Amino acid sequence: MKTRRPWNYPPGPPSVPFIGNLNLDLKNLLGTLRQCRKKYGDIFSLILGTETVVVICSRDKITEVLVKNGDIASDRPRSFFYSELLTPYGYDRLPYEKNILKEVTVLQEKLKEKQGLPFDVTELLHVSVSNVICCFSFGKRYNHENKDLQTLTKVVADISSNPDVVGLLTFLPFLKYLPFDLVGAKKVKRAFNLLRYLCKQETIRHKNTYQRDNIRDILDYLINLQLEGDMQDFQITDEMITEVIIELFAAGTETSSTSLRWFLLFIIKHPAIQERMHQEIMENVEANVPVTLQDRHKLPYCQAVILETLRLGTVAPFSLPHMATDDIDLEDCMIPKGAYILPSLDSINNNEEDFHNPDEFHSERFLDLEGQITNHKTILPFSLG
Ligand code: HEM
Repeated sequence: MKTRRPWNYPPGPPSVPFIGNLNLDLKNLLGTLRQCRKKYGDIFSLILGTETVVVICSRDKITEVLVKNGDIASDRPRSFFYSELLTPYGYDRLPYEKNILKEVTVLQEKLKEKQGLPFDVTELLHVSVSNVICCFSFGKRYNHENKDLQTLTKVVADISSNPDVVGLLTFLPFLKYLPFDLVGAKKVKRAFNLLRYLCKQETIRHKNTYQRDNIRDILDYLINLQLEGDMQDFQITDEMITEVIIELFAAGTETSSTSLRWFLLFIIKHPAIQERMHQEIMENVEANVPVTLQDRHKLPYCQAVILETLRLGTVAPFSLPHMATDDIDLEDCMIPKGAYILPSLDSINNNEEDFHNPDEFHSERFLDLEGQITNHKTILPFSLG
């Protein structure tokens, strides 16, 4: 196993023979990487098991690597997630807001049913977000009690609640051969297979009812690309279509529902924020009409609260790993071909130079003296490139 760091790699903690830097406290990944940044600067490297991982912690460096060198820094690594569970592929946008509004109405009713009593909102948010993704992927929303929706939601939660397992198996792939499913690899894989089965069933249903003049949802859109698109030498297969839909559920459910949970936590902790948001909505949006994306310019304070939630609640602190498909030469070091690249969105969103007292929730940091949105480009919740 290669555990020595060549001289021109970004600096990093000394590596131990055979295990590299796996001796670091990776359970507290956020804290460990923050300490490494203090010691080694805005770009440093770790040797984890069989892989070199380069962590980038400043906006300038993230831009230099992911945007200026985007053509050789945009691949995804063959991690356990990608090699065994997912085949990454791109997708396009379809109208979605009306589905979200419908789901919001149901969510409001479900919250009212609780009559102000305490309860754990996690599952309800998971179901609601999955249902929105069902709407724009499959063209149908389910009742919350529907067994298919509940299975789908549970499977996605099983996958997303095990990031440690996926990380461990990426850097120490031989662990998946341990007997009795000691690290939980088989459990995650079973959940993925079930998700794949459900998405495949929908792909078949859509192929059987597809009409080129009536594109109902993302699945139809992808089938349309497959049948009518001019892709030259590239053939879209049914498997690829299914994988795109899997990816939407896997990438969209946990991120969105956790962001919503952060939002609820912050506004419960700060009731004055709730009141100010409510007042802004009452003053600027017609009564009894749902708030839509078009209203956002009239609601700068609400926008500022959302921005501050995305900043302080950064749900993807190290984004998703990229992989260098060639050596990337930077001013004072190089990122070797095949290295994992982790853009540290945590470093950007909690940067003390940009954000005074970054650990505190303070929406006004995104408002200028006229009460209009400012500084929104200083955060990077969705990464770059
Ligand atoms: C607050 C909510 C969300 C946050 C903070 C978030 C954040 C991110 C980040 C940081 C990445 C990595 C980008 C990169 O590597 O360059 C990503 C990728 C992605 N996100 Fe989101 N996301 C959110 C919601 C969603 C939703 C609702 C969907 C779709 C239903 C979605 C679909 C995807 C997909 C398909 C990818 C690419 C995955 C891949 O390449 O394998 N995300 N997201």
